[in-house]
Amino acid sequence: MEVIITSSYGKICEEAAHIIHQEWQKKNNLVLGLATGETPLGVYKELTGMNQRNEFDFSDIVAFSLDEYLGLEEDHPQSFAYYMTENFFKHINIKTKNIFRLEGRPSDIEAHCQKYEEKIKSYGGIDVQILGIGRNGHIGFNEPGSSLSSRTRVKTLTEETIRDNARFFTDEREVPRFCLTMGIGTVMEAKMIILLASGKEKSEAIKNCVEGAVTASAPASALQLHPRVKILVDEEAGSQLTNKDYYKWVFKNKGRVKDYMK
Ligand code: F6R
Repeated sequence: MEVIITSSYGKICEEAAHIIHQEWQKKNNLVLGLATGETPLGVYKELTGMNQRNEFDFSDIVAFSLDEYLGLEEDHPQSFAYYMTENFFKHINIKTKNIFRLEGRPSDIEAHCQKYEEKIKSYGGIDVQILGIGRNGHIGFNEPGSSLSSRTRVKTLTEETIRDNARFFTDEREVPRFCLTMGIGTVMEAKMIILLASGKEKSEAIKNCVEGAVTASAPASALQLHPRVKILVDEEAGSQLTNKDYYKWVFKNKGRVKDYMK
């Protein structure tokens, strides 16, 4: 795990966009897995800027959404499909045929989830998966207790997640109780994972994710088993990390191993 602690939310987003840009330079038809929520908004803004300055061409990029509320139509303002279009896709030159998402109202839920998994595989898997983290440690909508090898499926949201997400709705009762989400096993197959967190309210979840035991009770802790994970946090979200000075030292000295060997 590479833990990158930066001074501000803006810096996390710049760093994440920079990493994605670097990966795109190696592979123009990068397959991205994309989270919604408040945290990745700045990353999508950075990437949009790069696209508009002709530094990043999205014409061969493929995108898969991480999750979706069950019951919401695609054009519902709180659906994740709507969020992705409004906050990212409509501002960049990604092709509609390269955008894949979990539907909010599939006629056959199980078949839809199965097909989604197959679609990801048909593109050679996800190259870079962007994740946020819930206060309870969820990634995607894999709430505590989710199997660490779970696949795309229906999940029931916890009361805490419903309360946390009520800020996007006019009334808490409007928040859907169920969702579709890539499983933790699905996420773990991505070749690189970037998890972002900002603010003190995420510090306990980050502590458990990075330095706690690997357990289904803290779903993000599964990332400790992934070979290429970058955890990007601001000072507040990283404030409970015991080894934060070490992570900072490692980041500062990154790329110096070659000089050291001279
Ligand atoms: C969203 C998602 C969730 C969020 C998490 C944090 O697609 O999968 O796991 O990443 O709930 O949300 P924010 O960033 O709004 O705090």
